[in-house]
Amino acid sequence: MEKSRIDLPIGVTLDRFIKSKEVEYPSAVGAFSQLLRDIALAAKVVNRELNKAGLIDIMGNAGNYNTAGDEQKKLDILANIRFIRALSKGGEVCGIISEENESFIDLENDGNYIVAIDPLDGSSNIDVNVSVGTIFSIYKRITAVNNPLTDADFLQKGRLQIASGYILYGPSSMLVFTTGNGVNGFTYEPSLGEFVLSNSNIQCKQDGNMYSINEGLSNSILDPKAKQYLQFCKDNEYTARYIGSLVADFHRNLLKGGIYLYPATTKYPKGKLRLMFESNALAFVIEQAGGKATNGEMDILDIQPTHIHFTTPLYIGSKNMVSKLIN
Ligand code: AHG
Ligand code: MN
Ligand code: MN
Repeated sequence: MEKSRIDLPIGVTLDRFIKSKEVEYPSAVGAFSQLLRDIALAAKVVNRELNKAGLIDIMGNAGNYNTAGDEQKKLDILANIRFIRALSKGGEVCGIISEENESFIDLENDGNYIVAIDPLDGSSNIDVNVSVGTIFSIYKRITAVNNPLTDADFLQKGRLQIASGYILYGPSSMLVFTTGNGVNGFTYEPSLGEFVLSNSNIQCKQDGNMYSINEGLSNSILDPKAKQYLQFCKDNEYTARYIGSLVADFHRNLLKGGIYLYPATTKYPKGKLRLMFESNALAFVIEQAGGKATNGEMDILDIQPTHIHFTTPLYIGSKNMVSKLIN
């Protein structure tokens, strides 16, 4: 007999999942688990604000510009405040860098973790009710406890991340993350206020036929390999899909197979996407899912940043597609 909805089990909540991992990986205990819970809590709050964004006056521009020169939306600022507040409270995190802040924040506590965050990704899409996201990376602090943090704590290679992931605020909201043992996705169940495991051990197909690029930039692409690959996609009638929210474009390609390209262009000769706030986190996720992320010359995770708002070209997605582009 087919089960009615009422009989169906709820599944594994994020909390239970984290607990079960503490048994499997003793290094994941305590403070680190709490940090993941703090991120999930901030995500729920931001999700709530986004859901009512059309009803109250929190859409639109705030009239300020961030370090990258992007005009800040009111929700950029709101999401930034929510995440920084949630991360500051618990004492697990000692330092934060955010796309929306010029310099690093030293919380002056004895926490062990550094967080890098793009609080609201794809924010130019907010006013038109299109999916947006949050991207985060977690590192261990370098400077000994009780000493002020320095640039070295923040300018770490992506390879040193101990966890990373993103929240996609879409038709359903999802939290997808890795702690270096595969990738798992949780879907938010608003009536329960819980993230529930919906996509366990996500694997990205080795091949795909979807490509994602802002094609309006075609004539100003500086990397001949990207130009060539774009032509290859067209010659083979691949499907073009580009939302303009990196999290949403990445998530689709992760689940369906595909490649996302943001090459260096005349406008952004060093690439547009930020290494510390966007590329590293997604590169860790894609590698853990069997895919690949490169700037065209080296793996994203091996790039040494020289400042926190460092940008990079990004080619990320199905392994064989990314390899074809660079070879
Ligand atoms: P953010 O909203 O955090 O500034 O990020 C915007 C990024 C990314 O989400 C997206 O893929 C890309 O910018 C889109 O750039 P174009 O508008 O140049 O295509
Ligand atoms: Mn972004
Ligand atoms: Mn952003």
